[in-house]
Amino acid sequence: MEFFTNRKDLKSHLSALRSQGKSVGFVPTMGALHEGHGKLLEVAKSQNEVTVLSIFVNPKQFAPNEDLARYPRTLDSDMELARRLGCGVVFCPTVDEMYPQPFLTQVRVDPKMGGVLCGQYRAGHFDGVCTVVLLLLNLVSPNRAYFGLKDFQQFSIIQKIVSDLGHPSEVVGVPTVRGKGGLALSSRNRFLSESEFEKALCIPRALAAAFHLFEKGEKQISLIFEAAQKELMLGGVEPQYFEMRDASNLELLSGQMESKAVLAIAAYVGSTRLIDNVVLAHEEPYVSAALDLVRKATNV
Ligand code: PAF
Repeated sequence: MEFFTNRKDLKSHLSALRSQGKSVGFVPTMGALHEGHGKLLEVAKSQNEVTVLSIFVNPKQFAPNEDLARYPRTLDSDMELARRLGCGVVFCPTVDEMYPQPFLTQVRVDPKMGGVLCGQYRAGHFDGVCTVVLLLLNLVSPNRAYFGLKDFQQFSIIQKIVSDLGHPSEVVGVPTVRGKGGLALSSRNRFLSESEFEKALCIPRALAAAFHLFEKGEKQISLIFEAAQKELMLGGVEPQYFEMRDASNLELLSGQMESKAVLAIAAYVGSTRLIDNVVLAHEEPYVSAALDLVRKATNV
């Protein structure tokens, strides 16, 4: 496994591999890797000849009121996982290497997609995400880049900017990996106490209840939504947002379901902010992902 901290060395290593005709799969992360990232690496490895992992805690995507210093940093175990999963290249730059001063460029995401859901509460977050993702895509030039569907808004926005700006990489969404009780794996779960963990399980139960009604043919959004909300109330979790949106453009949905929808939630459990979603659609990979959610959430 090759390790780089420098943009120039990474670029020349990758261009040598590309000139040998090798396809490149890219998994951008902020480290603190868990099985969810492991899944991204596994899918990338199965579809490409070389897998590149980046580990960079991107300051541009943290709002001033968010604690960048609290973000977990676990480089040794991250490297171990990368090695175990047969990752070919790890890129782990410093902030100065990524953003040499003066750094004057910033992607601005339209508020229609970037100012809703998490964007309402995390000012500038998606501008920061898209700036670093485009920069990384330009450095790595992968055939395919892999993003977890747990952050569905991030995935949709990245897909849109890559298409709008004509970047040649393909953006691939990988279904959420769920642990005990269906809780979506997240680097933040380590901050949950035992009782907070139990409380958080009403989130997957709520999403599973929504999918259950959808699967039975219910099309009335308010009914699907109420079934899910009931589970949150029973579990004592008050969401920061809980919304049904069009899965292709993130517009708010009401009335009858006519298109592919995403039911997305963010909620604080104790001081830990969790996000999750279920995509209500009759197509893969969404059906298998939702069935996995239902199985785990109702099997507690
Ligand atoms: O999802 C993440 O871990 C980050 O937002 C990403 C895509 C690596 C950009 O910093």
